[in-house]
Amino acid sequence: SSHLPEGIERTFVMIKPDGVQRGLVGSIISRFEQKGLKLVGLKFMHASECLLRQHYAEHEGRPFFEPLVKYVQSGPVVAMVLEGPDAIKVGRLLIGTTDPSKSPPGTIRGDLALQTRKNLIHGSDSSESAQREIELWFGQRELVGWEKDSDKWLL
Ligand code: PPS
Repeated sequence: SSHLPEGIERTFVMIKPDGVQRGLVGSIISRFEQKGLKLVGLKFMHASECLLRQHYAEHEGRPFFEPLVKYVQSGPVVAMVLEGPDAIKVGRLLIGTTDPSKSPPGTIRGDLALQTRKNLIHGSDSSESAQREIELWFGQRELVGWEKDSDKWLL
């Protein structure tokens, strides 16, 4: 990811178990695709407790930490890496705010979720966390760089 073109970023996004259980995987991925972000990594997996404790390490000790790890471990998730201009900020904008009841319509959480405890999706919040999370969830060989023909209409 250090060889990306100027202004192009990669971000980590995870559809949490409620999104999988509710059958929203396809529609959530569509929102990122339709925006023009490019999938460069995608997998369906049951995340281990160990992985999730590392993923959420910065929140260790907060009252929501244990329930959060338990919730995200309660079923399979979809992990992905998305690439594009300003992908980290754009990804967070599409996702909306932590509390879905306050997230505006048009955002994933605003349209599809109700409660902070089950807020469907995670997205990296900075370039440091994006890099850390991508390395934590994906091996180098699981990331696929490719030329997206439709980029000529966007970029
Ligand atoms: S902070 O203070 O800004 O760092 O916290 P925030 O980004 O809002 O939340 C960090 C993650 O914890 C989740 N969260 C919760 N989960 C369960 N229960 C409660 N009460 C709760 N509060 C916050 C929140 O969804 C964030 O998870 P991710 O997966 O990163 O979106």
